[in-house]
Amino acid sequence: METVILIHVSAVLLSILFFFGRGVMMFRNPSFVSRRGVKRVAESVDTVLFISGVALAWLTQQLPWHDAWLGTKLLLLLLYILLGMVAFHWGRGRVVKTVSWMAAVAVYIIMLLIALTKNPWPF
Ligand code: HEM
Repeated sequence: METVILIHVSAVLLSILFFFGRGVMMFRNPSFVSRRGVKRVAESVDTVLFISGVALAWLTQQLPWHDAWLGTKLLLLLLYILLGMVAFHWGRGRVVKTVSWMAAVAVYIIMLLIALTKNPWPF
């Protein structure tokens, strides 16, 4: 259980570091973002994040429809993925890309606070 939490939290930190770095590189060197290696590493980290999260939910017997903090975290995860798609793929123009990238980072920080407090409204 401790090991799974350690894996999960490491993936949480790596994932946002990667996301943040991809955003910075998008403006400095756009071809870097679409490089296959970069995508592969980012996707692998997110897969570990997802699998360890599901494993933790199973191990601690917490379900998103019973435990509001988990349900809220997962809904925000969808929003985060959507904003990431706009920032890196669908968005046209620098302003749209920058605003969605920054909004995604803000959503991620809220997810972090929700997870650490186990409270769907952590403010
Ligand atoms: C599929 C997605 C995810 C699922 C199903 C999930 C589920 C869980 C579960 C069940 C726990 C264990 C809580 C406990 O110890 O009782 C946990 C811990 C945690 N999660 Fe996630 N998680 C997911 C994604 C994320 C994301 C995207 C973040 C960051 C933004 C995150 C941040 C954390 C943190 C920091 C903890 C440790 C909390 C603590 O022990 O104090 N998780 N997660």
